[in-house]
Amino acid sequence: MTIEELRRYLEFYRDLGIKEVRTLAPPRAPLTPVPPPPPKPVAIPAEPLEFRPPAPVIPPGPAPIVMNPELTLPSLAPEGDSMEAIRNDIGDCRRCRLCEGRNKIVFGSGNEASPLVFVGEGPGADEDAQGLPFVGRAGQLLTQMIEGTSKKEGIPLLRPEVYICNVVKCRPPENRTPQPDEMEICGQFLFRQLMAIRPKAICCLGSTATKALLGTKDGVMKLRGKWQKWRDIPVMVTYHPSYLLRPYNQDAKREAWEDLKKVLHFVYD
Ligand code: URA
Repeated sequence: MTIEELRRYLEFYRDLGIKEVRTLAPPRAPLTPVPPPPPKPVAIPAEPLEFRPPAPVIPPGPAPIVMNPELTLPSLAPEGDSMEAIRNDIGDCRRCRLCEGRNKIVFGSGNEASPLVFVGEGPGADEDAQGLPFVGRAGQLLTQMIEGTSKKEGIPLLRPEVYICNVVKCRPPENRTPQPDEMEICGQFLFRQLMAIRPKAICCLGSTATKALLGTKDGVMKLRGKWQKWRDIPVMVTYHPSYLLRPYNQDAKREAWEDLKKVLHFVYD
């Protein structure tokens, strides 16, 4: 691995909010097999041997693990990356426990050349069933937010013209928050999607997307409404539509509309 590749890996993990990286301990066992000791001479007994059944044959164990001294890490953003290549690399993913309960992998939907990308947390039940992001109640609200706000602001924009995806591509059981290792594993694909699209702006919906992209513990309330950055791409943090669906969050709804207005004018004016 070159220094440049190593630097990109470290940046990738830093962007995920990982503060500490440890190297693997070198293998302790010698890599070359130790030859077995020569057989001891067998003394021939003076008395004839009594008959014993032959010892059971022990089948050979699994092949010894050969340690590859080259550390192989997943590709970050390979040269000439494309959405198709990313989708192929995800394949029938079994990299984390979320594969156990999912029905469909939810890669993303919309315009893959869009100047605006929305990033949510992870699929819910409806998304898991259809294989598409934000198609349940929260998704309907997101559509209204995008299309309603743009119409009011005189920006002709329909939902299929933006790109929408999630941090994790498989539904977490009971819609729980994705765990850090799940975000880390799936985050590489999100990062590749964002690098392949290279939008003019990203809108983070809720705290999981915010943590994944900005690697900060600061909450949505603190970060929303002001431009942040992921790599060199401007990021607007706002509330997750599921949060806005709760009846007592009317102030947040108004704020989310303000955030969205900022994003739409920035991207489409
Ligand atoms: N919530 C999300 O974060 N993403 C979806 O796709 C649906 C609901």
